[in-house]
Amino acid sequence: MSDDTAPQAAIDAEREKHAHERDDRVYGRTAGDEQEGIPFIGAGPGHPRLLTVAGKEAIEAADLVVHAGSLVNSEVLDAYCDGAELVNSVGKDLEELVPLMRDAYEEGRTVVRLHSGDPAIYGAALEQMDALEHEGVPTYLVPGVTSAFAASATLRTQLTLNETANHVAFTRPQGKTLDSEDDHIADFVGMGDVTTCIYLGTHAVADTMDRLLDEGVDPDTPVSVVYHASWPDEDVIEGTVGDIGAKVDDAGYRASAMVLIGDAAAGAGYERSYLYGGWANGEEPGGNDGETEPETTSND
Ligand SMILES: C[S@@+](CC[C@H](N)C(=O)[O-])C[C@H]1O[C@@H](n2cnc3c(N)ncnc32)[C@H](O)[C@@H]1O
Repeated sequence: MSDDTAPQAAIDAEREKHAHERDDRVYGRTAGDEQEGIPFIGAGPGHPRLLTVAGKEAIEAADLVVHAGSLVNSEVLDAYCDGAELVNSVGKDLEELVPLMRDAYEEGRTVVRLHSGDPAIYGAALEQMDALEHEGVPTYLVPGVTSAFAASATLRTQLTLNETANHVAFTRPQGKTLDSEDDHIADFVGMGDVTTCIYLGTHAVADTMDRLLDEGVDPDTPVSVVYHASWPDEDVIEGTVGDIGAKVDDAGYRASAMVLIGDAAAGAGYERSYLYGGWANGEEPGGNDGETEPETTSND
């Protein structure tokens, strides 16, 4: 690989290009369209039924599936990758992955890249896509069900709830990748009406809760931890900022869990929305969601 096509140079060049010009495909394609190139597919949280139709069709047609190792439930691979060559991306750097996918694509093989959940959330997909695009290999994204959504479904709740949670934060705790000053979990929880969804924080639940307590967060604030949401060994641990750390430590989970903080995680404390109230019958909206609701024609 020549220097100007090495992944880092390619990423730098593509990143610079994004800052000045928009790709025509942004306006010419929709997210569900079949497109030319290598799809970067969200495999969903784990259950094979939680893959999109677009994702399933692309995987079933693939000769080569590059997947995110243990983050992708092997049941998804078993269900849809019959006969395809499977390559685990864990432990491979871009310098290895990019030529592997490029060469296969240029040989006329059907290549897919499989990420867990949705590639748009802590997926590191764009750098691979940019490096491939720079070498003339088209790429595109196929969305998936992110683990926060699988966890909320498991918990039979919503991440937004009228009066309780007006906002959702997808975040991660400080650690090797994130400096402590860039850890905003206490800010989100402190806002009071945010459901905070913590990715990549299973190993650090107790530390995270200790920091929240130091910041003065109410120890009784509900916290739900969903390990392997939608997998056969899914587990739910419920507690509070004050006691969830010890519970997760006792369970022994160090990875692969979603941590949801806030009343919405427990489905608690919410008020009836205006959607199914007087507004639905044409009456004046009486609450803070009334201003935006009239634009909505469906009851979603
Ligand atoms: C590298 S991030 C990838 C997130 C993924 N792109 C998504 O949209 O869910 C990995 C983290 O996602 C969360 N995660 C992924 N799959 C999960 C599942 N099935 N159940 C609970 N959490 C999951 C965990 O917090 C894990 O540490």
